[in-house]
Amino acid sequence: MTAPRELLRVVAAEPVGPYTLLRLERGVLDPGIPGQFFMLEAPGRVLPRPMSLCTAPPGELGFLIDPIGPGTRALCALKLGDAIHVLGPLGIGFDLSVERPLLLGGGIGIGPLPYLSEALGGTRAILGFRSDHHAEAARLLPGAEVVVEPRLVTEILPDDPGDVLACGPEPMLEAVRARVPGAQLAWEAPMACGYGACYGCVVEREGRYVRLCIDGPVLRDAA
Ligand code: FES
Repeated sequence: MTAPRELLRVVAAEPVGPYTLLRLERGVLDPGIPGQFFMLEAPGRVLPRPMSLCTAPPGELGFLIDPIGPGTRALCALKLGDAIHVLGPLGIGFDLSVERPLLLGGGIGIGPLPYLSEALGGTRAILGFRSDHHAEAARLLPGAEVVVEPRLVTEILPDDPGDVLACGPEPMLEAVRARVPGAQLAWEAPMACGYGACYGCVVEREGRYVRLCIDGPVLRDAA
């Protein structure tokens, strides 16, 4: 493990639809490559939570968090001036050497896309959400096309989508993979350590087992 761990102060915890954008002082941490992740240590919780970076304004690191469990709820309840330990950046992010990028995001999976779009100099994006309330998070990616269930992101994929970079729930990623060979897909798995030691994040992909924390989370689908 080479990534640094630092105690970072909370700048703000802003509601974004049902999500929270947790903004932390950056300290000496590097924002890394979009799609890489950080381990956020929630107050009172044993296991840290893996989070991809959402926004990276000067001096800050921003994480979009869905308060679905005790750890994520504790992170969303942080207040200005609180501080938490953060480790990162970790893992393998998106390959930015793409010519015609199209970003696809589903639900909380839109998390890494604002920073990714910024790194690519702005790009096309399609975002899918389960409700209008969740779709309020689309404001983090101005100009993106937005669909709300029952419509799906893959329903409005152009026939020639270009270089697809996607993050979202597994069924969405499987549907993207079926439509777009060679797409870059950011997968999710429970992670305890974040640097290859616990094997808690092992998944099977195309007949081989990978540790998503060091082999991913972004995997390029075999074209
Ligand atoms: Fe521990 Fe991947 S999270 S090996």
